Amino acid sequence: RAIYLKDYQPPAYLIDKTVLYFDLHEDHATVEATLHLRRNDGVAGDAPLVLHGQDLQLESVALDGRALDDDEFQAGDETLLVHRVPARFELSTRTRIRSQDNSSLEGLYKSRTMFCTQCEAEGFRKITYYLDRPDVMARFEVAIEADRARYPVLLSNGNAVAREELPGGRHRVRWDDPFPKPAYLFALVAGDLHSVDDSFTTCGGREVALRIFVEEKDLDKCDHAMRSLKKAMRWDEDVYGREYDLDIFNIVAVDDFNMGAMENKSLNIFNSSCVLCSPETTTDKGFQTVEAIVAHEYFHNWSGNRVTCRDWFQLSLKEGFTVFRDAEFSADMGSRTVKRVEDATVLRTLQFAEDAGPMAHPVRPDSFIEISNFYTVTVYEKGAEVVRMIHTLLGPEQFRKGSDLYFERHDGQAVTCEDFVRAMEDASGLDLGQFRRWYSQAGTPLLTVRDEYDPERERYTLVVSQSCPPTPGQPHKEPLLIPLAMGLLGEAGNLPLRLAGEAPDAETADNTHRVLMIDAAEQRFVFEGVGEKPVPSLLRGFSAPVRLEYGYAREDLCALMRRDDDGFVRWDAAQQLAVSVINEVQEQLQANQEPRVAAVYLEACDALLADTSADPAMVADMLRLPGETYLAELAAQRGGADVEAIHGARETVLRALASHCEANWLDAYRRSAVDAPYAPEAAQIAARGLRNTALEYLAAAREEHINLARAQYTAAGNMTDRLAALRVISQRAAAQVREETLAGFYRDWRDESLVVNQWLQVQAAMPGDDALERVRQLMAHEAFDLRNPNKVRALVGGFANGNPLQFHRGDGEGYRFLADVVEQLNSRNPQIASRLLTPLTRWRNYAGERANLMRAQLQRLAALPGLSPDVYEVVSKSLED
Ligand code: ARG
Ligand code: ZN
Repeated sequence: RAIYLKDYQPPAYLIDKTVLYFDLHEDHATVEATLHLRRNDGVAGDAPLVLHGQDLQLESVALDGRALDDDEFQAGDETLLVHRVPARFELSTRTRIRSQDNSSLEGLYKSRTMFCTQCEAEGFRKITYYLDRPDVMARFEVAIEADRARYPVLLSNGNAVAREELPGGRHRVRWDDPFPKPAYLFALVAGDLHSVDDSFTTCGGREVALRIFVEEKDLDKCDHAMRSLKKAMRWDEDVYGREYDLDIFNIVAVDDFNMGAMENKSLNIFNSSCVLCSPETTTDKGFQTVEAIVAHEYFHNWSGNRVTCRDWFQLSLKEGFTVFRDAEFSADMGSRTVKRVEDATVLRTLQFAEDAGPMAHPVRPDSFIEISNFYTVTVYEKGAEVVRMIHTLLGPEQFRKGSDLYFERHDGQAVTCEDFVRAMEDASGLDLGQFRRWYSQAGTPLLTVRDEYDPERERYTLVVSQSCPPTPGQPHKEPLLIPLAMGLLGEAGNLPLRLAGEAPDAETADNTHRVLMIDAAEQRFVFEGVGEKPVPSLLRGFSAPVRLEYGYAREDLCALMRRDDDGFVRWDAAQQLAVSVINEVQEQLQANQEPRVAAVYLEACDALLADTSADPAMVADMLRLPGETYLAELAAQRGGADVEAIHGARETVLRALASHCEANWLDAYRRSAVDAPYAPEAAQIAARGLRNTALEYLAAAREEHINLARAQYTAAGNMTDRLAALRVISQRAAAQVREETLAGFYRDWRDESLVVNQWLQVQAAMPGDDALERVRQLMAHEAFDLRNPNKVRALVGGFANGNPLQFHRGDGEGYRFLADVVEQLNSRNPQIASRLLTPLTRWRNYAGERANLMRAQLQRLAALPGLSPDVYEVVSKSLED
């Protein structure tokens, strides 16, 4: 059932034009499609036409206007085969679909009161018979007919070219998209929608009408998305020279949506959680997510739509590049270092875990069973890191040349990751031969660094070795080209760097920072003129998606944390210090000793907190302890994670840090209060971030500080502060306060679905042995809906990923619960079912009986009849040895 990259064949037929007629009704929809087909060059004349189709009811087929007899075609479960076709012809089909029953949220489906589509990757085949593959690009002409009162707004890609009133209260709108596109970029929306309108004038003077369509009640939540869109349009012109290419750009918010959003040509469809914002209902994090996703989808207009993927193995071609582009956009809009730390955290927690688990795959996978399972942190985020490394290797100017060449050379084409790398090579003259392995080799490389210092000769040597653990199907790994950004920290600051053999006058303005090219199993770098033993500052800016080991002493980490030039290294030093302190406490607890939290750590944190000149966002990030799931991944590398021990040790360190720095936490809490009216801008976000981190620690330090949280909860003028207080109360307050506050929150916000999701998620993470019981009860609550992915993610995902101690209960009930939900969703919404499974796939990380209990649930799922390919792939790969 798996398909392989090596089996790729160009399509036997191409489609020049696709004409669609949608007739939408409450109990069905009919789709008439006329495909203008042409046999591809070099294909034999007797090659049959094989179209994809799924869950379609075929009513008629005609070729060049002549209805086909039953023996001239074959309609199977997943294909429509037409035996003899001419070199050029029109194929017309009429199919009936049942969108109102489509719970997979793929294809044409109904979300509450509106019709909408999601076609990426292979959803178009649920709409009509088609060559549903990205290398078949056609011009689309679309007509939509529906009841005028229920569906006053009818949208598709491109330009609206006609609107007609029809008898019986119906109407019709015709759309024409001048840009050829693959079927995955098709979109249709029909609903009673209202829009916020604006416009943008491109660098070339084109006036673009911008519209965000939402339900009427959400009209007041579109401003931020609109501002973000305009910023993204300008940024893409300024930084990449990319101008928008139509007179119209629409965004639609949809409540039931499997992913974040979708870049359909000129008609982006968004999960409402990724577009709607208001200070009252949305946290700072939410505002930032909206800005990033609006930009991401907009950037796809070039990196994805104008230049698209040849096949789905190349998904990272558009996703990796576009994530890199949106990350740089966010860095330019806010704080670059804070954004980098966030992205490094995602990579080190989620992506490294994926690389170490049964679903590990390269950025360009070489096989899959279900492509939906490969919209992963590896393809997206590691893919973006690979593009970032190319940017580092080439430098900004050459990278821009490469990007210009890529867009110019491949505009209107469906291409491969190889084409992207070649454009970068051709533009820059740099050989990326070895670098290409990043696309084909899975697993997280490990850099092991040793050093030697020779005070007599003032020489400092770094010995860097690289290795990469085996992953499924790849037992042996080749060395990669890894850019290792570094510096050397001396007593008085960063030391000038001169490699042996380099002329002394090669020193440039910034000679304290450089990028070492790691390209072999082991290499030595000798620095000369080093007058003191330095502390190496390594992997600056997280210059490569690798693990790095160097035997830092705690004092070294404190020095880096306090004084290094690089924000990422400062943060990483704090994390490493925290990990080592937590591990030490865990050992003490396991040996039944009184735990002692290392004083150097507590003092370094206190000093950081007292430094009012430091960026509050960085202070908060540096003082936030690594999460339990990350600690469990690290422990698994050393033999097996003990959930309770990790939780106990982390909590001990957290409380120690809370009490040791109590005075400074209190001071930080007071001094970071924001008086100005709410704005989602960097300085305010940083202040609120530090204040709410302080609140968490204060509540852990002393019970009476819960009162601060209660006061903040009541006084909060925005959702960031209110939710932060609610979280602290839900985690630390006495039962009565906790329950009253949660109940009050629901009363206040029950009509705001996105806020209710936050309420569900907060409760999913609550401590106590009754946590699972609470989650089960919430599943029966009026606020929950198993059909809505956001609710499932908040409550079920929130429990399985956000409540490690209770998910991993010793009796295995957490695992059973998750598997039960997966079973229910398997037939309704396979994509969501499969995604929920992730925490169970990590069963090998856990010590003893837990691993068995987790595996038992995977085995139970494996034995179910009617498993979707999505769930089957994850379950079977997780059980393979
Ligand atoms: N291309 C979309 C984005 O990254 C995501 C589409 C996800 N679709 C899916 N079937 N998983 O912006
Ligand atoms: Zn994307």
